[in-house]
Amino acid sequence: MIEWSESTIRSFRKTLLDWYDTYGRDLPWRWDHDPYHVWVSEIMLQQTQVNTVIPYYEHFMAEFPTVMDLANAPEAKLMKAWEGLGYYSRARNLQKAAKQIVSERGGQWPQTAEGLQELAGIGPYTAGAIASIAFNEPVPAVDGNAFRVFARLLEIDLDIAKPQTRPVFERVIGRIMSPDRPGDFNQAVMDLGASYMSAKNPDSAHSPVKAFNQAYLDGVEMQYPVKSKKPKPVKVAYYGLVIRHDDQFLMQKRPSDGLLANFWTFPLIAEDDVLAMSETPELVTEEERLSLLEKLVQQEFGLTVRVIPMGGKPVKHTFTHRQWLITLLSAEVKPDADLSFFPGKWLSSDELTRMALPKVQEKLLTRVHQIQ
Ligand code: ADE
Repeated sequence: MIEWSESTIRSFRKTLLDWYDTYGRDLPWRWDHDPYHVWVSEIMLQQTQVNTVIPYYEHFMAEFPTVMDLANAPEAKLMKAWEGLGYYSRARNLQKAAKQIVSERGGQWPQTAEGLQELAGIGPYTAGAIASIAFNEPVPAVDGNAFRVFARLLEIDLDIAKPQTRPVFERVIGRIMSPDRPGDFNQAVMDLGASYMSAKNPDSAHSPVKAFNQAYLDGVEMQYPVKSKKPKPVKVAYYGLVIRHDDQFLMQKRPSDGLLANFWTFPLIAEDDVLAMSETPELVTEEERLSLLEKLVQQEFGLTVRVIPMGGKPVKHTFTHRQWLITLLSAEVKPDADLSFFPGKWLSSDELTRMALPKVQEKLLTRVHQIQ
């Protein structure tokens, strides 16, 4: 890692902020410094790209203009506004934090990064972003962009996947950042990280901070940041049952914990559970699987079904630690079947359109519509 002198730091700040004043992106959450606006945008931007976030952000602000509206919103409406963004615990935490602000703090925001971290879903990055942008606290906001930008500028070769690396970057950036315009400094770093210093296609030859970019000057830019690989998501195979009657689907409500808690999906049966019905799972043929599956549905839910493969590749969906591979089966259930042991109900296409459906269920529905 290289160290900058005070005069290099001053010159870097000026170069970066001058560039930001002219070329910084005009984004709707930058139109004012309202902590509610900054917070919602930062949460949305955590796992989602700027261009995708813009329309969601605008819609969200139209639906829930203040932190009070968000605190009082019905959960279904909140989920509908979040539909398609994924990582729904972000939305639930957003509402939890809104309730904390409204009912425990009389509508007052904590104004420091430390205080902000007491709110649900706000970690060191988001706290730094809100504190610096909305409250002018000189604290860094270290996300993937900031890790990359400063790792390259200073040739910091610490592994950014390790938790002990963050405080080192926070200290380094804290020394470099502008004490007068911390929010602009942090957002300028984000814009730099999204353009001249992007992960895959940097253009350091034309970058405003080219002269400060040690990794570029040494021809080793792509070696930074150093990041050890995460284990690959574990593959899990499911059968998805498409059970249709007239304009309705028999839908399953997922348990209140685990992946996609409380969301509605086609009934999903783990292949492992099907195979566990056999004493010789390794010998089970494709045909036998389907009859084992019918037996399992009978035992678990008291439902008599007949299933037929729908063809096509399994539908794939990747979560942080799991990859689901769902084979769709068309299934028939008597419309007057007793659902008292089944965690779900018949829902019409109209009802499904009005509800927030998780992305994986959208993919399943799209596939069904393609096949039929
Ligand atoms: N990514 C994360 N936060 C951002 C912000 N405030 N502006 C642009 N991109 C971002």
